[in-house]
Amino acid sequence: SVTIPPPPCMLRPLEAPLRYLFGPGPSNVPPRILTAGGRPIIGHLHPEMYEIMNDIKQGIQYAFQTENNMTIAMSGSGHAAMECAVFNTVEPGESVLVAINGIWGERVAEIAERMGANVHTMVKTPGGYFSNKEIEQAMEKYKPVLFFLTHGESSAGLCHPVDGIGDICRKHNCLFLVDTVASLGAAPIFMDKQNIDILYTGSQKALNAPPGTAPISFNDRACHKMFNRKTKPVQICLYHHTGPVSGFFALRESLAILAEKGLEESWRKHKEVAAYLYRGLEDLGLKLFIPERDLRLPSVTTIAIPEGYNWRELLAYIMKHHQMEMTGGLGPSIGMVMRIGLMGYNCEKTNADMALHALADALKNCKKSKA
Ligand code: GLV
Repeated sequence: SVTIPPPPCMLRPLEAPLRYLFGPGPSNVPPRILTAGGRPIIGHLHPEMYEIMNDIKQGIQYAFQTENNMTIAMSGSGHAAMECAVFNTVEPGESVLVAINGIWGERVAEIAERMGANVHTMVKTPGGYFSNKEIEQAMEKYKPVLFFLTHGESSAGLCHPVDGIGDICRKHNCLFLVDTVASLGAAPIFMDKQNIDILYTGSQKALNAPPGTAPISFNDRACHKMFNRKTKPVQICLYHHTGPVSGFFALRESLAILAEKGLEESWRKHKEVAAYLYRGLEDLGLKLFIPERDLRLPSVTTIAIPEGYNWRELLAYIMKHHQMEMTGGLGPSIGMVMRIGLMGYNCEKTNADMALHALADALKNCKKSKA
């Protein structure tokens, strides 16, 4: 007989309140995508599923602006896609160059180091960015097989320029790996035109699908490197496993919405709503963390923590009184910023107004500590 009784918590109904997810993700999932994800599941090897996977591939090719054949949705988080990219393209002992200006570069450096690569980093404090000249100089020095850059650095709210870097990587026979988890659909990226060799994203940000699937694409240069390895990769990619069927239904629907709306319209909308939010934040006397407007990530806006306030108290107040998530920093930006994300479905001026109202209320009601 069983010795461990049913846990009392399991005898209570599920509680998952409705919340405004105005942080850096996941963002609210629109009813159309929820409904798609809630359809009766089919077998992961049924013919309809192959067709859905093929649709997803084309949806990702559009979202990434690529014709790469090796374009798939992984089962897993954006982190899984990050690991997949590094594990499959790099062999132990090879040189890897990582641009760190927030948490994501730190994480890639850690992954690459743990798998035995020879890791070199270029480091800036959150909000910093790298010139193409600096990148080229580091490439000449370290001769990496892979260079990693975060396009949408959500921990700092920075959207890193990408133009020209792919060409530098080609010149130095290096693969260019770009993380667009927080930026895809919100800020322009052109995988083929910008000579990006490996690109990945997550499902839960501007795509508005539930977390758990991760689009990734490899071009021929990346495939050539992967398929001519001398050692086996640590992570076995792709097959055979039972994929998250419901997650793929939802991802397909989110990519369909993006295709219907159009990428350019989605970029325009994120920029417009972000600009509206910036004005409102400045009207509240708040200071935007990234001074250069063109470098701000349109999906995640970072605010410098207002003088004299405890950021944890402000965020807790907003959650308690407005059922709204905003967040603090992440990794190296903890204690430096508060973050507001308005992505995809959430990217509306009315939501910006709600976020501003909640912030104004918190600023009024949270005690200002004496410095
Ligand atoms: C992502 O999960 C973030 O918090 O930036």
